[in-house]
Amino acid sequence: MTETLFTGKNFVELSTVDSTNNYARQLLSEGPVPDGTVVFTHTQTAGRGQQGNTWLSETGKNLTVSFVFRPDFLEPTQQFFLNMAVALAVKDFAECFVQEEVKIKWPNDIYVNDHKLAGILIENTISGSKISNTIIGIGFNVNQEIFSAELKNPTSLYLLTGMLHNLKSLAELLCSYMEKYYLQLRQLHFNFLDRAYTEALYRYQQTHEYKKGEQVFRGEINGVSKEGKLIVHSQGKEHRYSFKEIEYVL
Ligand code: BTN
Repeated sequence: MTETLFTGKNFVELSTVDSTNNYARQLLSEGPVPDGTVVFTHTQTAGRGQQGNTWLSETGKNLTVSFVFRPDFLEPTQQFFLNMAVALAVKDFAECFVQEEVKIKWPNDIYVNDHKLAGILIENTISGSKISNTIIGIGFNVNQEIFSAELKNPTSLYLLTGMLHNLKSLAELLCSYMEKYYLQLRQLHFNFLDRAYTEALYRYQQTHEYKKGEQVFRGEINGVSKEGKLIVHSQGKEHRYSFKEIEYVL
């Protein structure tokens, strides 16, 4: 699975950059960018993560890549389906290498056995009632063996399998998974995406501890709403949480 229709046909390879998402943003500000453009770097000096965090990645060891698409067939209220499509693409890609189950920790961390293998940062631009473009940044731990103690529970393909991989070949393979799911999205196969995403959820239908503010409670994840809220059953009631409202107790 390597040939694509359009994803990665425009492949920008940089030896070093602050952030591939920033570089993609700069490209967009300079003029039209072909759909499926990829920005790939060997060294990212100021990688950005979700919630304003930094994304740390050792030089030359991991995939740090951004994709630019123009999902102008999506309305802003449908943005979470884009999130689902990307998370599923990265999960399927990870499953090419990992024997263990790969899960999606809501909203879009890629997990193997309680450890984070990859993170995704999606930055959408909304024009009127459409998503005019999206920058999808993926940080996927590949050959890194030792991680900063600041990180809670990182893992890498190397730690999971003992195998080293060529990063550019991986980026090319990832293009085909991204395109596969992007095409599902473009055909508005929302039910398919929703079902696949729900089934892939980390801790789906299991009881575990969560934290809201200072309060720790037990609950069971039962799915995700169309707006991307996490649906949790706890003490006989259904609760819906947005991203910053709830924390997983790991
Ligand atoms: C997360 O916090 O889990 C999301 C991490 C996303 C990191 C990737 S690395 C490539 C792209 N460029 C960035 O600056 N961030 C994303």
